Amino acid sequence: MKREVRVGVLASGRGSNFEALWRAQEAGELGARLAVLVCDRADAPVLQLARRLGVAAQCIDPGTRRARLPEAVESEIVRALRDQRVDLVCLAGFMRIVGRPLLTAFPDAVLNIHPSLLPSFPGLAAPRQALEHGVKVTGCTVHFVDAGVDSGPIVAQASVPVRADDDEASLAARILEQEHQIYARAVRLWADGRLLVHGRRASVHEPSPSGHGSNLEA
Ligand code: GRF
Repeated sequence: MKREVRVGVLASGRGSNFEALWRAQEAGELGARLAVLVCDRADAPVLQLARRLGVAAQCIDPGTRRARLPEAVESEIVRALRDQRVDLVCLAGFMRIVGRPLLTAFPDAVLNIHPSLLPSFPGLAAPRQALEHGVKVTGCTVHFVDAGVDSGPIVAQASVPVRADDDEASLAARILEQEHQIYARAVRLWADGRLLVHGRRASVHEPSPSGHGSNLEA
């Protein structure tokens, strides 16, 4: 019998994407189970949210470096994910750049959601960058994580028109609605074993009766 795909979410803040994944799971639309939330901020609302929703939650001390986690801390995160037998890692507002320990432990199995149509506006404050640049359409992207910043193969995108009267908050809110849709769909595709990565390109193939790869057969 095919074993359930287990997802570990890394988040640092509010947790609306985490909640959207949880809702998709509860609606039977995720094809996977949220096994653990790992957070790098003890005061992040997402920690309470996970506990309220009954998802195991763990807070990890990120140390003093800013954007990049020390390798020892990242290895601790990998241990926490492995303890929960995680197959797929989803970054959801995780304000750190991840590196070798996580990416080698979970090859082609780390996804991120970003609030722009990549490769435009990577990094912080993407809706603000879009407004300042004056684009008329922006959106959001789910991509595989590689060693760069918001640079890995693109899995899914949704576009959002920029309105003349948008400010950063109104634009970010409309983008967020789309994030919640495409992230759950991307996780479903991964869990169903339908995502293939060739170099920069991630493609979706037809469903196979056996679901994800044989390593997930119990
Ligand atoms: C989202 O806009 C996501 O795209 C970005 O960080 C934000 C996280 O929001 N990476 P939330 O914590 O999921 O509500």
